[in-house]
Amino acid sequence: MGIAVSPQIHPHVAEFIDQPRKMLINGRWVNAASGKTFPTYNPATGEVLAQVAEGDREDINQAVKAARKAFDNGPWRRMTASERGRRIWKLGDLLEQHTEEFAYLESLDNGKPLNIAKVADVPLAVDLFRYMAGWATKIEGNTIPISAPGFLAYTLREPVGVVGQIIPWNFPLLMAAWKLGPALATGCTVVLKPAEQTPLSALRLGELILEAGFPEGVVNIVPGYGETAGAALADHPDVDKVAFTGSTEVGKLIVHAAAGNLKKVSLELGGKSPNVIFKDADLETAIPGSASAIFFNHGQCCCAGSRLYVEKSVYDQVVEGVAEHARKIKVGSGLDPDTQMGPLVSEEQMNRVCGYLESGFSEGAKAVAGGHKSGGRGYFVEPTVLVDTKENMKVVREEIFGPVVTAMPFTDPEEIVPRANDSEYGLAAAVWTRDIGKAHRMAEQLRAGTVWINCYNIFDAALPFGGYKQSGWGREMGHDVLNLYTQTKSVCARIA
Ligand code: NAI
Ligand code: MG
Repeated sequence: MGIAVSPQIHPHVAEFIDQPRKMLINGRWVNAASGKTFPTYNPATGEVLAQVAEGDREDINQAVKAARKAFDNGPWRRMTASERGRRIWKLGDLLEQHTEEFAYLESLDNGKPLNIAKVADVPLAVDLFRYMAGWATKIEGNTIPISAPGFLAYTLREPVGVVGQIIPWNFPLLMAAWKLGPALATGCTVVLKPAEQTPLSALRLGELILEAGFPEGVVNIVPGYGETAGAALADHPDVDKVAFTGSTEVGKLIVHAAAGNLKKVSLELGGKSPNVIFKDADLETAIPGSASAIFFNHGQCCCAGSRLYVEKSVYDQVVEGVAEHARKIKVGSGLDPDTQMGPLVSEEQMNRVCGYLESGFSEGAKAVAGGHKSGGRGYFVEPTVLVDTKENMKVVREEIFGPVVTAMPFTDPEEIVPRANDSEYGLAAAVWTRDIGKAHRMAEQLRAGTVWINCYNIFDAALPFGGYKQSGWGREMGHDVLNLYTQTKSVCARIA
């Protein structure tokens, strides 16, 4: 182990990945019941980065048992909301103190540039914990006047119970925060399964969770594969709710698996988000904004602006502008301070994206920037702009989840709403225009959980995020997410 590590690596990270990492069950770090481990790779080199305990059904059973005990009988349930909130706040502080270390872990395991992890992934996770810490003391029911005289009726909002959380590899730490923050604020207990490609930052976060003073069993972290550990969590009869972020395909499997005990389900799934530029837009911001809409995180964003629609009279100028940005992006190892785009997360993901490029070319699309795998070692793909694309092509219909945008012109502003909405997904959309009336009309008509106007990829812990159509069920972050982790109890008392 440690073979893929460059000399400048952060010393705590070097130490962390030098030992096989264990899983967190009931407040203790343990090996898998089977004794098995699995490798996680450095996508910049393809070499093994670390070995990690491989959780399976038996480990999930142990973790669920611990979470159940912590929920039903532990000190967690007796803790005041204020004490709960203080621990979440402390977790945010601890994470912030270790920003550098987490950015390194994220860069090594996922491939993303260290400098970006430092200013985006880690601070957004810190902010999410702080935002959710505040909610712990503000979860309230209502008093409700009912029609019959002589009654007092009110509602209580109670934690849903033991929650299974399955997260992806594109923002490993941030997705752990999005999931854990609201579950802890509401008083649930958790079994978290990080993605097999990127388990390291969640495991390090587990150490901070213990340091922040969460009682044993409140958070359990079981790394492992989806088909084994993930599936065991989704169909577990003693799990009250499963929260999933990942592919729409697996989202549907989760729904089926959850049917056994009808556990609650929330899903944050794929997207194929339209990014619409009108001729009256400020192109000086729309062009770089649209490049970053697709190329941020190497296109591995569920909300990536992957379908670029541009009004005809400015189409050539915008496409050339975005292509120019694509050509200038410095692709390389995430640890290199000059790198603007790292490798894709895995060989599988690289092959999937290259397969889409070939499919696009075979259907008649042309690349005006990129179009190929890049470099020798590592899972790099060039930032790519495809033109001559048609609505029925696979590259326009399906989520590529890589640095590939399809550009298409439109002539009539009236036609663009149905074209933008012509997708099985509905996660995000963007509109670039100086006409505020048009912008807000579009925002109303686009069938997407988030609409950005003259911007893209703006996230905030206070702003709900989630999908229409096959992009998912429920909203993460903001006030909305509390609904996913609580249920309402109506209490009705005869008082006269
Ligand atoms: P995936 O959906 O298979 O993986 C996401 C998580 O689900 C991982 O933790 C995985 O271990 C788990 N999982 C996989 N199969 C499972 C099962 N049967 N039961 C329970 N859990 C399971 O995504 P994958 O294969 O890594 O990527 C495939 C495609 O999915 C990508 O190309 C992209 O289009 C999409 N995707 C979307 C994401 C999003 O943020 N919406 C994130 C990751 C992938
Ligand atoms: Mg998969």
